[in-house]
Amino acid sequence: MEKSRDREIQIISHFDTDGISSAVIMISALKKLDSKFSLKIVKSLDENFINKLSKNKLTLFLDLASGSIEHIKKNNFSDVFIIDHHEISAEDIPENIDIVNPMMHDKQKISSSGLTYLFCREISEENKKYAKLAILGMIGDNLEKEISKMNHEILEDSEIIKKRGILIYPSTRPLNRVLEYSSNPYIPDVTGNIQGVLEMLRESGLAPKNGKYKSIIELSDDETEKITTSILLRNPKIKSKDLIGDLFLLKMFNQLEDARDLSAVVNACSRSGNSEIALKFLMEVSSSKKLAESTHIKYRQKLISGLKFVEEAEKISGKNFVIINAKENIPDTMAGTIASILSNSPNYSEGTVIVTMAYYENRIKVSARNAGKCGRNVRELLARIIQITDGEVGGHEHAAGCIISQEKENEFIDLLKKNLEVEVVKV
Ligand code: C5P
Repeated sequence: MEKSRDREIQIISHFDTDGISSAVIMISALKKLDSKFSLKIVKSLDENFINKLSKNKLTLFLDLASGSIEHIKKNNFSDVFIIDHHEISAEDIPENIDIVNPMMHDKQKISSSGLTYLFCREISEENKKYAKLAILGMIGDNLEKEISKMNHEILEDSEIIKKRGILIYPSTRPLNRVLEYSSNPYIPDVTGNIQGVLEMLRESGLAPKNGKYKSIIELSDDETEKITTSILLRNPKIKSKDLIGDLFLLKMFNQLEDARDLSAVVNACSRSGNSEIALKFLMEVSSSKKLAESTHIKYRQKLISGLKFVEEAEKISGKNFVIINAKENIPDTMAGTIASILSNSPNYSEGTVIVTMAYYENRIKVSARNAGKCGRNVRELLARIIQITDGEVGGHEHAAGCIISQEKENEFIDLLKKNLEVEVVKV
């Protein structure tokens, strides 16, 4: 904080739920200190963007930049701070770059918003009220299955309610609507079929009270069990451990909301090109609420058509991989989400590498995931190819992305296939 005295801070944060949560925590803390700052929310960092940043200001990257150290090094920034949890690309870090990243130490699983929160809590105890945003970032990055020591501490600081229940969101809204729109999990004869929904609810012994069905969080243990059984009977591929788990409930705009749903709203706004709405939504600016929710509805419809396209598209498949080159048929901002949905679908066996590609300007956005979050390190895989084709790469072991130029499309696919066809032999 010493270095920031009397200097403008330029903050650059990522556009997903974790990045937006990190940004809101940081700017709220800085506002209290009367610090001068500017904020840019980006979908990815590239060399060109980094080159254009002011070099004299104090530069703070949130939820990104660990994969771009080499580009940062090439520019003479006076001071750079990075709060991030992605894998680090460089071996030696120069003195003008300070990094907070657990990948350099114990590799504890924590979101960038969690790290940003812990940093801001050190500045002032008053910032404890942003603990809920750190948990939201954790949910956004799917880190809630194994809650690490640091996340546990943040959870205790927050007023978030953790409750076992059916993992379909929003768990706070009447079941009939929630089941009708459930795409993850997909429930045959129920998803998109209101008659099927009512039949399943009847079969589970649930009736509306004063015309209204209970929400997931209002169900008794017995009702939860009956509904779970009905869902599993309709889709035996769903594992009960994926259907029952912890729900995280927090107050936003003075109303109890499901963190997974809030994260979906934030992501939808950002991925539709409206990260400003996402930001205001998490800052609880009341004028943003309706806009954020309607953007979410529109985005969901677009996502469904994107998924449909991908389902029917021609795929390049091998023993343990599938490559879907959607070209201009899906927005680049949806490539990662679609790859994640596919990696959770029962259609792919554990360890399968799923790669989606989508055009973006004269470039291609590539996203890679492992089904079942196990198998080969996809970040390393993309990084190896990028060394030949050029581009920007970053991410984690089981969820990574890169951007390449469209001219390299065929070369990239060929290299990807060659690398994926080589079996990884464990010694
Ligand atoms: O973009 P996508 O969703 O496929 O990215 C997967 C993960 O990799 C995300 O956590 C994203 O922030 C990270 N990533 C990155 N640098 C890139 C591309 C992706 O850090 N150039």
